[in-house]
Amino acid sequence: MFIRSIELQNFRNYRRLDLMVGPSVNVFYGENAQGKTNILESIYVCTSTHSHRTAKDAEMILHGEHAYKVKLEITSSFHAYDESVSVMYEDGSGSSSSSKRAKKTVFHDDVPFEKISEYFGIFNAVIFAPEDLMLIKEGPSIRRKYINVLLSQVKPSYYHELSNFVRYLMSRNRIIKNARTSGNKVFTDKIGEEMSIWHEPMARSAAKIIHDRYLFSLRIDKFAKVHHEKISHGRESLYVKYKTCIPVNMLEKFDEEELVKYLISKWDHSSEDDFYRGGTEYGPQRDDLQMSLDGDGLRMFASQGQQRSAALSMKLAELDIMREEMNDSPVLLLDDVFGELDAQRRKCLLSEIGDAQIFITCTDKSFIEQELADSLEKASKIAFFEVVSGDVIRRENN
Ligand SMILES: Nc1ncnc2c1ncn2[C@@H]1O[C@H](COP(=O)(O)OP(=O)(O)O)[C@@H](O)[C@H]1O
Ligand SMILES: [Mg+2]
Repeated sequence: MFIRSIELQNFRNYRRLDLMVGPSVNVFYGENAQGKTNILESIYVCTSTHSHRTAKDAEMILHGEHAYKVKLEITSSFHAYDESVSVMYEDGSGSSSSSKRAKKTVFHDDVPFEKISEYFGIFNAVIFAPEDLMLIKEGPSIRRKYINVLLSQVKPSYYHELSNFVRYLMSRNRIIKNARTSGNKVFTDKIGEEMSIWHEPMARSAAKIIHDRYLFSLRIDKFAKVHHEKISHGRESLYVKYKTCIPVNMLEKFDEEELVKYLISKWDHSSEDDFYRGGTEYGPQRDDLQMSLDGDGLRMFASQGQQRSAALSMKLAELDIMREEMNDSPVLLLDDVFGELDAQRRKCLLSEIGDAQIFITCTDKSFIEQELADSLEKASKIAFFEVVSGDVIRRENN
């Protein structure tokens, strides 16, 4: 799969950009804060509909504007014809209607989708960025995001199920909140009954989500282990384990009906506690991927270097899974990794590129030329772009 052109409107520091890119390696170089990462971010937005570095879409709108739009013209290995994908986000402030609600719209060949879940899988990319280290250093929510984004891309029904679950969960939580704010300080049977309406739909979605996450965690573990071993020259073993709310034997066996019953009874029994707590404690909304090196937790005990290797291994596992699922290579986005990774880790990353189209950002053009010449036969096919305050200029290869 490859991108032929990138079109930006009011995205970050680009008022307008129309850029034809090469089918192989594309290098964006220039000083800091010129707009190199912004281009990779815009591409990533088209795969996951979210940024890899902010949860706030409004941040990506050019200051002073009300909406951004990114459009990519792509060619996939399956279809002989060309396609386009676009993401548009309006913050609502520019709309004339009174509702002023923010809105995100995704398009395939300029046709908007009703549901974002239908959009996933058309265009896939994997990003390697300095933020990857957060996978190891931060709390569980970032690892849930990692597995959610990966699963949504390769299994659209997962995203659909996840959105359902979140909606049911919010409905249950709203009952708690409404009861508490309406002056009901004491839990009653009636409140419990209202909450329990949501338990079965929650359980049906949760069972599927948990099962998918479990199966994917096994694959992540398998692939990430191989990469980590290679990066550490066989000195360390990385373990990735799914941590969820149900017992391990139920995970392994997976009887959906049994699991649904189990989850319902858990929520039935915790309604009163949840009421006093102010929200739903139990469930897959608390899931995590636990990572360890030879038994020691990575977050607490590993060195910075070990953490970087583990983060890179997780991202390479993501790439492996996408390749397996897509029968095609996703586009690779390498943001500043040449400044971030040491020689051994760079070598491992470059050795995995295969025939993927890649987008690289860096400050030092000659360093990247050298680096790529050593590891890629494609060095002759590099397209260079210099980025200077939101201007992108194609430079000849020399
Ligand atoms: N919403 C926005 N509107 C206008 N400019 C922005 C916006 N968000 C970021 N920028 C600008 O983009 C630049 C940073 O771009 P970035 O791609 O991260 O730089 P780099 O070239 O170092 O990768 C900064 O100059 C910043 O002020
Ligand atoms: Mg950058």
